[in-house]
Amino acid sequence: MIRYAIIGAGAVSDYHHVPGIRLDPRAELVAACDPNEELLEKRRTDWNIDKLTPRYQDIADDPDVDAVVIATPNFSHKEIALACIAGGKHVMCEKPLGLCAAEAWDMHRAAEERGVRHMTAFTYRFAPSMRYLRHLVHSGALGVPRHFRSQRFLDWPETSWGWRQYKAQAGAGDLFDMTIHRIDFAIDLMGPIASICGAVAQFVPRDRTADGSPCPPSEVDDWSALIGRFANGAVGVWEGSTLMKGHHNNGFGWEWAEINGSEGTAVYRLTEPNTILLGKPGESLETVPVPDEFLVIPGSPRDPKEGVPSTVFRYDLVYELTSAIAENRPATPGFDDGARAQDIADAVLESNATGRWVEIGG
Ligand SMILES: NC(=O)c1ccc[n+]([C@@H]2O[C@H](COP(=O)([O-])OP(=O)(O)OC[C@H]3O[C@@H](n4cnc5c(N)ncnc54)[C@H](O)[C@@H]3O)[C@@H](O)[C@H]2O)c1
Repeated sequence: MIRYAIIGAGAVSDYHHVPGIRLDPRAELVAACDPNEELLEKRRTDWNIDKLTPRYQDIADDPDVDAVVIATPNFSHKEIALACIAGGKHVMCEKPLGLCAAEAWDMHRAAEERGVRHMTAFTYRFAPSMRYLRHLVHSGALGVPRHFRSQRFLDWPETSWGWRQYKAQAGAGDLFDMTIHRIDFAIDLMGPIASICGAVAQFVPRDRTADGSPCPPSEVDDWSALIGRFANGAVGVWEGSTLMKGHHNNGFGWEWAEINGSEGTAVYRLTEPNTILLGKPGESLETVPVPDEFLVIPGSPRDPKEGVPSTVFRYDLVYELTSAIAENRPATPGFDDGARAQDIADAVLESNATGRWVEIGG
């Protein structure tokens, strides 16, 4: 049995990770950590656990914890991960891994040196449609991949994002919160990115909370975009925004990722994760069901017919980490994938600041 602790008992732990632990018969939730004592008390009943602490070091030192999920504000990921790695814990950490790529690579190095499993919570990679798209690209079914395209549009209220809107705590806005997932898709599907030209913009001050109280204004982008060239000669275009009115879709927003190859086009959509759109030369895009073998990751006990399709694939992340621990193999996506995506996200900020294309180092 792999004994998990949650560090950061907020929204994403409750929505994605705790249900994932519950579904995995090889995993058990044994502890939770959060400095917000009121929330921690609530989790005692929500999650039915009695080992609770406001200090992550208690978890790092606890011999009865095998693995941790770190789901705290971005600025704290590195220090918590390094403490848990030093304590010999396997670590899943939320994205972005750090406030910059150097932090993410430090985390990767520490995990490799200590010999623990490491995983970046790039959730959307687990969507059935994304898994099938990956199979089509890598099996050559689309021919030579030429273009990658990603659109992630959210229709969020223009009120405060809390810690997410301050550079010291979040690093960046839409770019680090949303576009970084799509940078990861692109690298996973198309291979390394060789150069990019990026831009970010901020339209909204978000100087009020949802209840109307004043707060310090946002310092981060609410729109981010890049164009890029892949090492294999293909090109990519990405755009993300939280200000896309009319793209609410029950909170799931609009998400479209597309590959155009020499023999065909395939499209992933978050709101239709159990189908893809497929187009052959001279024909129009058609809806194709995702084959059963791609609906869950291999071995996952999750019933793909249960729950909200755009949500439930996220429960497979914990299954992947538990499997990697049990099989003594790397987890996917690892901290190296998280760091590679962050190299590109950092380059977007650099390109935005200098007005120039940025070459991506090896
Ligand atoms: N992969 C995804 O799809 C996805 C989705 C949402 C959020 N996230 C990421 O997850 C992380 C958390 O986001 P969230 O929406 O759950 O935020 P949140 O604000 O709801 O929760 C964060 C929690 O961390 C706690 N915390 C702060 N410092 C801590 C510390 N030192 N030790 C332990 N706990 C601490 C806070 O009290 C809070 O309860 C962020 O990095 C975010 O980018 C990823």
